[in-house]
Amino acid sequence: MEQVPPTEAAALLAQARRVVVFTGAGISAESGVPTFRDDLTGLWARFDATQLATPEAFHADPDLVWGWYEWRRARVRRARPNPGHLATAAIESLCPDTVLVTQNVDDLHERAGSRSPVHLHGSLFAPRCIGAGAHPAALSEPVEDEPADPGEGARIPPPRCAHCGWLVRPGVVWFGEALPEAALTAAVEAAAGCDVLLTVGTSGVVYPAAEIPLIAARRGAAVIQVNPEPTPLDDVSAVNLRGTAAQVLPALVAAARSAPR
Ligand code: OAD
Repeated sequence: MEQVPPTEAAALLAQARRVVVFTGAGISAESGVPTFRDDLTGLWARFDATQLATPEAFHADPDLVWGWYEWRRARVRRARPNPGHLATAAIESLCPDTVLVTQNVDDLHERAGSRSPVHLHGSLFAPRCIGAGAHPAALSEPVEDEPADPGEGARIPPPRCAHCGWLVRPGVVWFGEALPEAALTAAVEAAAGCDVLLTVGTSGVVYPAAEIPLIAARRGAAVIQVNPEPTPLDDVSAVNLRGTAAQVLPALVAAARSAPR
């Protein structure tokens, strides 16, 4: 395990021509957005995913599911990007050929200045119509920028698509659903062609997303992991930086800026 200052990781990052940053819920934890698998505060410790995050759950109780996602959307709206998000955006100026692949459905990377994150699991801010083609929802009322927090158990009827009248659903990937094809293709191609993959704040247990760092490692890229806890990705990581994203990433980017190129 490398200590701060993260010299080995900084040298790898400074010399990389193509970088992938792969993020999970842990990078947003210090912004106050809960992770999924933390023992006490994780969403899946407090809520039943089968009642909230599957197509069957939405079919059975759309008001419960829509209300839960509205609660999450309101929390994310109140959150602010943390130094981990800002340092991630700064990697794009350090290495212009950087692709950011995130499993997160929040928009904190965008608000920190990252150019165009690849959202493998969709977005809280891109609701879709459940009708044929699952096109972006046409909403008669604009989605509010600062929605009122409905509270965690709120039941809210989902709107109907103004275009075709079908129900509107959250634009996230649920258990049992395929990942958006374009996003998955972009992520796989970037992972297969990078020199360095920096994985931050993911438990690395949800597939196919968790394949992304494995693909990079198999193709010879150096994997750098930032996580306060061990994960299955420890085994494929050239460097494991045990700390939080907001602590480690700014130090890593500063060290990479002054490392030999
Ligand atoms: P998890 O909740 O599974 O894992 C979060 C990871 O972040 C853990 O390994 C923590 O140790 C780490 N962590 C916690 N705080 C951190 C911090 N401050 N800095 C850095 N790391 C920290 O979240 P994901 O791996 O993102 O999918 O979960 C993957 C997918 O499972 C999610 O996208 C979601 C979920 O079900 C869908 O909803 C489809």
